Amino acid sequence: YLCDQTCRRNFSSFAAKLTTMVGWVRSVRAQKANVFLHVNDGSSLQSLQVIASSELLTFGSAVEVTGILKKSPHQKQPVELDAKQINVVGECNPVDFPFKIKERHGLEYIRQFPHLRCRTNAFSSLLRIRSEATAAIHSYFKDNGFVEINTPIITSNDCEGAGELFQVEPSGPDHADGENFFSVPAYLTVSGQLHLEVVSGAFSKAYTFGPTFRAENSQSRRHLAEFYMVEAEISFTQSLEDLTKVMEDMFRFATEHVLAHCVEDVDLFHKHVTPGHRLKEYLMSFLRITYREAIDILRRSSERFAFPTDWGCDLKTEHEKYLVKHCGNIPVFVTDYPYDLKPFYARDNQDHPERTAAAVDLLVPGVGELCGGSLREERLNLLSARLEEAGLEDVYSWYLDLRRFGSVPHGGFGLGFERYLQCILGVDNIKDVIPFPRFSHSCLL
Ligand code: 4AD
Ligand code: MG
Repeated sequence: YLCDQTCRRNFSSFAAKLTTMVGWVRSVRAQKANVFLHVNDGSSLQSLQVIASSELLTFGSAVEVTGILKKSPHQKQPVELDAKQINVVGECNPVDFPFKIKERHGLEYIRQFPHLRCRTNAFSSLLRIRSEATAAIHSYFKDNGFVEINTPIITSNDCEGAGELFQVEPSGPDHADGENFFSVPAYLTVSGQLHLEVVSGAFSKAYTFGPTFRAENSQSRRHLAEFYMVEAEISFTQSLEDLTKVMEDMFRFATEHVLAHCVEDVDLFHKHVTPGHRLKEYLMSFLRITYREAIDILRRSSERFAFPTDWGCDLKTEHEKYLVKHCGNIPVFVTDYPYDLKPFYARDNQDHPERTAAAVDLLVPGVGELCGGSLREERLNLLSARLEEAGLEDVYSWYLDLRRFGSVPHGGFGLGFERYLQCILGVDNIKDVIPFPRFSHSCLL
């Protein structure tokens, strides 16, 4: 990866030697007898400047260049490649190519070309940042004693109970008789939480990081039908305070890692893609308020909300946005939601005067809800009563078993990874932070 190597000024091992690089031409500039190319191999935002005698090379074409690496007289690049031989591996017709030389295309424009957009600086930077953030999240959990678990993608449960499921059925001539393949209805998972709870019943700390699916018929800029979720489950924890600490630490660790390892890519975002946005701003302490306090803030405000703000109402995007702004544009934990707003697994706060559950959402600037979590109801009698009320006791008899055999206080959370990237990079539309977005009426490629 020559671009990354030269960008890190770690090029002494190449200098003055015959070197071959492969990549795509990102710019072409003819000057007198020479042609100056910027060739990029995807390893870094930096391209390597190649000096060639005038040859027919176009923006976007794939090339293999062999030449001598030498110190560059220009400040911007430490070295340049004096080409001895250039082999055009794949031509690119600049007239048909949707990206034009010297033009800065916006995220919305390049989104129209999901098969080509990683050839732009903005999207290749995004993908490198996404990759580094993924690595950072795994290392956070590794460093803190969590076991990584691959929870299933096909499942028979609807963890969130919201009915936003994609059903899985086989197709093809072998299945033409319409027989149900799994003998029970099966779905793409909406959350790995219940499987993680199975595992955390023996491992104390477990996490998963994988795709989740929701059939939300929403065209919003923060919903996808397929998104990545980071989920953690921690046993022997009795307070939301412990949970929010892990959420905050993980957020900070990943963000600091991105800042340290993606300097140029983050710079590009700050300068050209989402100007005015500063990733560093998200490293300050997070605020904590209760749902009761959130409702009081909303009711005191002079803002006209489209949705009601009475105790017991769900917080909508407009409310989340207002709360974050009211709290000084920093991430805010909202805790202790009304019991009836949360799924069956959330723990009953029996000591509260208002009926609440030990549940928490993390709201962040620009996005709203980033994480949802809770302590889980570990008391067999309370959990079975709630499941019975919902008519779900038989479906979840295995889940009740977890409370019969060595049950412990535990809790966990899920973080929407695309929303995390939106938040730290200031990207308005969630479709611009995932390589291949899936949403209603769109499954391109
Ligand atoms: O709040 P949610 O629904 O929580 C759960 O699924 C829990 N079972 C997680 C757990 O405790 N293990 O989803 C978690 C997060 C949300 O806060 C949001 O960031 C993200 O997942 N999310 C979505 N992201 C993109 N597109 C969608 N359609 C999303 N739905 C949820
Ligand atoms: Mg939620």
